[in-house]
Amino acid sequence: DEIYLNGLAGVLPSFPMSHEELEARAQAAMSPSVWSYVAGGAGDERTQRANVTAFDRWGLIPRMFVGAAERDLSVELFGTTWPSPVFMAPVGVIGLCAQDGHGDLATARAAARTGVPMVASILSADPMEQVTPELGDTPGFFQLYTPSDRDLAESLVRRAEAAGFKGIVVTLDTWVPGWRPRDLAGGNFPQLRGHCLTNYTTDPVFRSRLSRTPEEDPQAAVLQWVQVFGNPLTWDDLPWLRSLTDLPLIVKGICHPEDTRRAKDGGVDGIYCSNHGGRQANGGLPALQALPAVVEAADGLPVLFDSGIRSGADIVKAIALGATAVGIGRPYAYGLALGGTDGIVHVLRSLLAEADLIMAVDGYPTLGHLTPEALQRVM
Ligand code: FNR
Repeated sequence: DEIYLNGLAGVLPSFPMSHEELEARAQAAMSPSVWSYVAGGAGDERTQRANVTAFDRWGLIPRMFVGAAERDLSVELFGTTWPSPVFMAPVGVIGLCAQDGHGDLATARAAARTGVPMVASILSADPMEQVTPELGDTPGFFQLYTPSDRDLAESLVRRAEAAGFKGIVVTLDTWVPGWRPRDLAGGNFPQLRGHCLTNYTTDPVFRSRLSRTPEEDPQAAVLQWVQVFGNPLTWDDLPWLRSLTDLPLIVKGICHPEDTRRAKDGGVDGIYCSNHGGRQANGGLPALQALPAVVEAADGLPVLFDSGIRSGADIVKAIALGATAVGIGRPYAYGLALGGTDGIVHVLRSLLAEADLIMAVDGYPTLGHLTPEALQRVM
């Protein structure tokens, strides 16, 4: 309504109204190396593309005479009520997309304005303690790449608790960087430039491992980070991970039903089905295709989902296939590059408005109405 009414007054939207235009304008706004980093993926990016096209294989069946004039998209999750089943997935080094470098703060402000929760990546230019105050009443979650230094892992989690995050998301698929030809061709691994390592360089345990402070010797801090960054966790580590916090613990990167069952048995509070937007390993199953079996194995435990969401229709389909909530990745980073916090707010509001309108037109007034029976395979 807002956009049409503005149009009557001759005011056209300044932000793109389709994903294709969003992508094109974001590319034009970013330097080639930042664009490669954000838009690119692993190998020849087949899995990344398949994440998106997997949604074409499902169609929502419209229902009439439902009178879905009032919709309720809210969902109870991890002890809070979310206004919709949508959140912002962790995007590391997002400062590169912001004019002023403070992409983490801009994202938190967009979360505050929309009520869309934010999962804050550990790889940020803004320290986590500065991110949470910007969130207002909107829940924030802290995403951890588990370092090999267990004391450092514990310190980071303690800080996240103290900063007021409402849960810890542990990403399991990124203890080594993926094979990303676009970044490799440009010799471009932004993490090595250090400006996204603030959560490490401000950490007392990390600092205690260095002979000179990160301010005196930034390069040594980066080298130390390379040494501790990733930890190839095994199931034997899950009890330790669980013992790190009483906050909800969510494991990201789960695509197999057996892994879902074991994680559930290990006491996690949520499963996060994702293949990292096809950035980590090429040749994998589209994440959407993995979702139904993960949901079945989760047997009532919340299942977060991302990888390939580009429209409101995609959100609706992922919910119908059993996701409890759906993460937006690249699209909000593009919004940030185009218009800072306003750009992110525009992207989120557009996705939510489309999802809401589809539920209205097609007669699905609540998330509970969106079940697998609402979908049919497209021939
Ligand atoms: C990511 N993603 C990610 N995930 C994570 O757990 N920690 C991180 O730091 C990052 N960093 C990151 C940077 C960039 C530039 C992108 C695009 C993505 C993955 C992210 O959380 C999510 O899984 C994907 O973005 C989902 O895929 P789409 O929808 O972006 O294709």
